[in-house]
Amino acid sequence: MNQQQRQKIYETAKRWIYEAGAEIREHMNDPLDIETKSNPNDLVTALDKQTEKFFVDRIHQAYPEHHIIGEEGFGDTLSSVDGTIWIIDPIDGTMNFVHQKRSFAISIGILHNGIGEIGFVYDVMGDQLYHAKRGEGAFKNETRLEPLDKKKKLEESIIGMNHFWLCENRVVAYPVMQKFVRTVRGTRTIGSAALELASVAEGVQDAYLALSLAPWDVAGGIILNQEVGGVAGDVDGNPWNPLERAPAVVANPAIHDSIIGFLKEGRK
Ligand code: IPD
Ligand code: CA
Ligand code: CA
Ligand code: CA
Repeated sequence: MNQQQRQKIYETAKRWIYEAGAEIREHMNDPLDIETKSNPNDLVTALDKQTEKFFVDRIHQAYPEHHIIGEEGFGDTLSSVDGTIWIIDPIDGTMNFVHQKRSFAISIGILHNGIGEIGFVYDVMGDQLYHAKRGEGAFKNETRLEPLDKKKKLEESIIGMNHFWLCENRVVAYPVMQKFVRTVRGTRTIGSAALELASVAEGVQDAYLALSLAPWDVAGGIILNQEVGGVAGDVDGNPWNPLERAPAVVANPAIHDSIIGFLKEGRK
C-alpha cells in the first residue's frame, strides 16, 4: 500500500467513524435492545450490530476487494492475512456503553499483507479520535503523541488490567500477579481494551495486560502503539497475530521485558 492509497483509505475511514459515532450518540438513549452472547455478562446491543453493518456495507461498496474481520459476524472468516483487511470492533466496551453510557470506543485497524497501515480508536462520548498511519506518527485529535518514555521503570508504571488476573485463571498463577500489582505504581481498569491501548500509546498508562483478547479488541490500538514505540504481543512475548484470540500484553518498550519476565514466573 503506497502513501497515497493509505491517505485515501484513512480519510474515508475517518469520515465513516465520525458518522457512526454521531449515530451512536443520537440513539444511545433509545431503549437498548440488549442480548447476551457467551455468558450473562457478555452483552451485545442492536447498536453494536448496526454499527458493524454500517462499516461493512460501506467497505463492500467502496473497496469490494478488501477483507473484513468484525466482532458481530458481518465480516469474513479469514485464514490468511494477505491483501487489505479491516479489523473492526463497532463498540468496544459494550458493558460500559450499556451501564455507564461512556468509556466505549469504535476501534478499527487496517492491515495490508499483515502490516498495520492505519489505526483508529474513537472515544465516542469524549469525542476524542486516536489515529495513526504507518510511518506518519500517532495523534489524539490534532495533537501528535510523543514517543514513549524509554527510561520508564516498572516500579513507576501504571498498568491497565482487570481483576480476573488476581483470581484463579488459565494463564498465570495469581499469587505472581498479586506480587506484580504490589510492584508497580498503580493499576487501572477502563473497561474498553481499545481505550486501554490508546492510553498506552498516549503514555498516560504504561502497559495493558489482558487474559484473552480478540483481533478486533486490539487491532486499532496496536497500530497506534506501533507509531510511538509501544510493543504488542502475547504473554510469552511472541508478536501479535491478527488472526488469533490470545492473552495480550501491550507495553512501553522499557518495561515490556520485565512484564514478560514476571508473567513467565507464574505461567501455566
Ligand atoms: C471487551 C472490552 C473489555 C475486555 C473484554 C472485551 P467488547 O470488548 O474490550 O474491556 O475486557 O475482554 O471483550 O465485547 O465490549 O467489544
Ligand atoms: Ca462483545
Ligand atoms: Ca471488544
Ligand atoms: Ca464490541
